[in-house]
Amino acid sequence: MNVRLEPADENTPRIHAPSEYDNWGEFDPRAKDMDLERWLIVVVDGDEEIVVGDMSAHPVYYGPTPTSRALNIGISLAEDQRGKGYGATAQRLLAELLHERGVVRVEASTDVTNIAEQRALAKAGFKCEGVLRQSQGRADGIHDLQQWSHIRGLD
Ligand SMILES: CC(C)(COP(=O)(O)OP(=O)(O)OC[C@H]1O[C@@H](n2cnc3c(N)ncnc32)[C@H](O)[C@@H]1OP(=O)(O)O)[C@@H](O)C(=O)NCCC(=O)NCCS
Repeated sequence: MNVRLEPADENTPRIHAPSEYDNWGEFDPRAKDMDLERWLIVVVDGDEEIVVGDMSAHPVYYGPTPTSRALNIGISLAEDQRGKGYGATAQRLLAELLHERGVVRVEASTDVTNIAEQRALAKAGFKCEGVLRQSQGRADGIHDLQQWSHIRGLD
């Protein structure tokens, strides 16, 4: 399987990838400042290239210094492209790309019930650090998230 990440910007259309974990409800206008960077997940099959999903990363600051800046990544695959290993591969590729840029801590947060994403993160070499209680509000209420990380030179 040949998966690559293609840089995207705010004008690149998002692929249709509905899931209960992306059913946000009303947005907070202040979230516009999240400083998102985006990529498309592209699967190369011979001469054919298929866009199978979207990825993003946004900074999280644990202090005022450059080494306190982590990047938190997100992913969604088109429904008919799930369960083929692309999620694990794409998240490993993005962690490596960000480490190459100098980012020490790449993190991902996923719902405590999202077993597919937890297994994909584990396969990508991320480690689970614990639970962020009541940290994400979606259309159906506020949820606990698991926090995962991939550390440069360790994972
Ligand atoms: C979560 C997601 C990114 C995972 O990517 P994926 O390509 O489907 O997952 P992979 O094929 O890499 O497989 C991951 C593992 O999860 C397992 N898995 C897949 N779907 C599953 C499900 N519904 N329940 C339990 N396990 C599941 C796979 O068997 C595999 O485990 P294994 O190899 O140890 O058997 C993808 O399913 C997706 O986009 N889902 C909807 C959006 C979403 O949840 N995004 C993450 C929000 S934080």
